[in-house]
Amino acid sequence: MLNLEYKNGEQYIEGLSISQLADRHETPFYCYSATKVQTQFRMFKDAFSNLDALVCYAVKVNSNQAILTLLADEGAGADVVSIGEIKRALAANIPANKIVFSGVAKTKEEMVFALQQNILCFNVESKPELDQLASVAFQLKITANISFRINPNVDANTHKKISTGKKGDKFGVDIDQAVSLYQYAQSLSFINIVGIDMHIGSQISDMNAFDLAIVKIKKLYEQLNLLNIKIQHIDFGGGLAVQYQRNDKTESDLLIEYARVINKHAIDLDCKIIFEPGRFIMGNAGVLVTKVIVKKYQHNKVFLIVDAGMNDLIRPTLYDAYHVISPANYSNEMESVDVVGPVCETGDYLAQDRTMQKVEQGELIIIHSTGAYCAVTSNSYNSRPIIKEVLVKNNCDYVIRKEQTVESLIALDCVPVFLNYLKY
Ligand code: LLP
Repeated sequence: MLNLEYKNGEQYIEGLSISQLADRHETPFYCYSATKVQTQFRMFKDAFSNLDALVCYAVKVNSNQAILTLLADEGAGADVVSIGEIKRALAANIPANKIVFSGVAKTKEEMVFALQQNILCFNVESKPELDQLASVAFQLKITANISFRINPNVDANTHKKISTGKKGDKFGVDIDQAVSLYQYAQSLSFINIVGIDMHIGSQISDMNAFDLAIVKIKKLYEQLNLLNIKIQHIDFGGGLAVQYQRNDKTESDLLIEYARVINKHAIDLDCKIIFEPGRFIMGNAGVLVTKVIVKKYQHNKVFLIVDAGMNDLIRPTLYDAYHVISPANYSNEMESVDVVGPVCETGDYLAQDRTMQKVEQGELIIIHSTGAYCAVTSNSYNSRPIIKEVLVKNNCDYVIRKEQTVESLIALDCVPVFLNYLKY
């Protein structure tokens, strides 16, 4: 976990107390530890230092330019899923030859742009997508390096909304069709087969799932070898879990187990390895700081109504996600509460029936493990502007994304002329 420290009863992130931060930045805001981002990335990279490996950070997890720049400095590549993410990665100086392009249906415009940048690889997810790519590549006379994302039909044993490698999921190509698709791809001009790709889901702590999927991928690799289809890299995707609850496995234990599975198989592979971790790098590098606006007692329940809502943090209601919640200032009394937002939806909760340290109206609370898939999935529902993101490094805080303003939201709307006419 992030390991915020309590000093004299107050929580600190990299030498700054949460209340100090909240004096400088209006709540709610996301706050990340730069050191934790670096540590997680290095830990992951070092676990595979014995392999010819490239770590392509999954940009979708947190695509802030400051985070991408920090990771680019660490030598990260990028796993992207849209033209927007390619542009973000390039703007942060991640070289094009370290960018892999995933995504279930890339548009023609995205293909043109990615080809012109000369990215490392397209992870192709269907025959129609391959045909489209071949046609675009032919028109531009630029060769596309490709892998097929294989759907190995393995249960990742994770939340059903973030499982991607089973028959019936929209992702990847059926493993039973893979050989014939590779043979077909080989017959196309301006298509250059470079790899095999998989990604079976996210927040996976069951190493057996990775093991089963990799066994299947290796079998495909051998079949392709026999057919003289040379594979230069295998991309094992992302998916490694992080610790959300105190009794979950720790990240270092998860990484050790994961590396054991990967290394066991990689020894038989004569190719490079690519990884696409996201949550592992960012999940516990961030917190959401919010304030209790109202403490409400109703129907034998205590509601802490805070200034962050489901539009700022959707994971609890969307995935039943559990995030540890603690007050910025330590309390030795405990209380069972629902932590909810001000949005007009019953699903607007951050925690239900949670026993946590007692908090009073006006106090600050911290929603932990919110570095991954949180700021990026926020929205402005209820005309609530998207909130600020702050990065802390060695006692200093930096605004890395300004909060939106209501005025800027209104300014995006256009009122048709006929309504203006009626109004004036
Ligand atoms: N590669 C591909 C092709 C992916 O689709 C993803 C995540 C990753 C890599 C990174 O996976 P990670 O290492 O972060 O598990 N919004 C959900 C998670 C969605 C995962 C989407 N794909 C959540 O908040 O739990």
